[in-house]
Amino acid sequence: MTRYAALAGLGSYLPPRRVTNEELAGTFDTSEEWITTRTGIRTRHWAAPGVATGDLAVEAGHRALKSANLPLAPGAVDAVVLATTTPDHPCPATAPQVAARLGLGTVAAYDIAAVCSGFVYALATASAQIVAGQARRVLVIGAETYSTILDPADRTTSVIFGDGAGAVVLSAVPDADRAGVLLGVDLGSDGSGRDLILIPGGGSRERANGEPDQRDRYFTMQGTKVFAEAVTRMGGSASALLDRIGWPTESVDHLVGHQANIRILKALAQRLGLPEERAVVNVDRVGNTSAASIPLALSDAAAAGTLAPGSRVLLTAFGGGLTWGAAALIWPDLHVV
Ligand code: UT7
Repeated sequence: MTRYAALAGLGSYLPPRRVTNEELAGTFDTSEEWITTRTGIRTRHWAAPGVATGDLAVEAGHRALKSANLPLAPGAVDAVVLATTTPDHPCPATAPQVAARLGLGTVAAYDIAAVCSGFVYALATASAQIVAGQARRVLVIGAETYSTILDPADRTTSVIFGDGAGAVVLSAVPDADRAGVLLGVDLGSDGSGRDLILIPGGGSRERANGEPDQRDRYFTMQGTKVFAEAVTRMGGSASALLDRIGWPTESVDHLVGHQANIRILKALAQRLGLPEERAVVNVDRVGNTSAASIPLALSDAAAAGTLAPGSRVLLTAFGGGLTWGAAALIWPDLHVV
C-alpha cells in the first residue's frame, strides 16, 4: 500500500529567560544598533544553567503530541528523531532519553547531526520511514541550547544564537493530495566547507590536535562566507525542489527559511523572485536557534494565523557541514500547542 507522510501535530517551547540586545550590549563589545541592523535580532531566549537540550525537546515533543491528539504512552509514535547540534552528551544520542521521558515506550530513537539544516534532514528520514512502511507516526524534534557552546569572547556568535525547541508529528496517510503531506524533500552537502562552521574540539579529531583546550569546545563561524553560502544553497535547494514538484515559484504563499539573519531571509526571497512579505520571520524574537529554527518559525506563524490551511509552504535550511535542504507541503488544519 502506498503511504505518504503528513504533518499531524506541531508544538514548540522556549526557555523563559528572554535576553535583549540591550542586556548583551552591557556584556559584550557591541551595541543594540549593530545587532538590530546587521541581524534583525531583537531578543533571544537562553536556557537557565542546568537546563539541557533534552529538557527543551521533551517540552516541545509533549506539545506536538498534544497538538496531534496523541497520548504520552507507548504506541503513540513508532520513532523519535531529534535534530540537534547541542546533544546532552557526545554519547549516547539524546533522542532515546526524550522518548523515555515522554513515556513513548521502546521506540526507535536517534539524533540527526546536520547543524542548522538538521530539522529538514530529520523530516526527510522520518518521512522516508513512513513511506517505507517502517513507521506509522514519527515525532520529529529540533532542539538546541546554543547558550552552552557560545564563546563569551566572541561577540559575533554570542549575539546571534538562541535556545529553543520545536516539534512535529508526521503521520502516515493513504493519498498524496491531502493537506500536510510532504510533497518532496531536497537535501545536499559540501564537506569542503567544513571549517566555516566548526566546534574544533570534543570529537575524535581532538586527539590528533594535541592537548584539549576548553575554548575548542566553543562554536565558531566564519559569518560573511556563511552568509553568501546560505543564500546560494537555500536558494538552489528551494528552486530544485520547486522544479521537481511542479510548483511555480510565484505560487509559494509562505517561505519558511532558516532564521539566521533577517538580511539572509530577504536576500533569499529576492533570489527566488518572491516578495519579501512571503518570508516568515521570527528571527527578531528568537535569534538563530539552529535545528530548532524551522519548527519554531512554523509554530509562530501557525499560531499567528499566517499559515492558513491550504496555503503552499516552502521550507529551506542551511547549516554547518556544509549542509542544506528544502521541503514543501500544503498547510493542514492544525491546532498548534
Ligand atoms: O545558522 C547557520 C548559518 N548561519 C548564518 O547563516 C549566519 C550568516 N552570517 C551572518 O549572519 C553575518 O555574517 C553576521 C551577522 C554573523 C555578521 O555580519 P556581517 O555583516 O557579515 O559582519 P562582519 O563579520 O563582516 O563584521 C563587520 C564588522 C566588523 O568590524 P570591522 O572589521 O568592519 O571594523 C566586526 O568586527 O562588525 C564587527 N562586529 C561587531 N560589531 C559590533 C562583528 N560582530 C559585532 C558585534 N557588535 N556583535
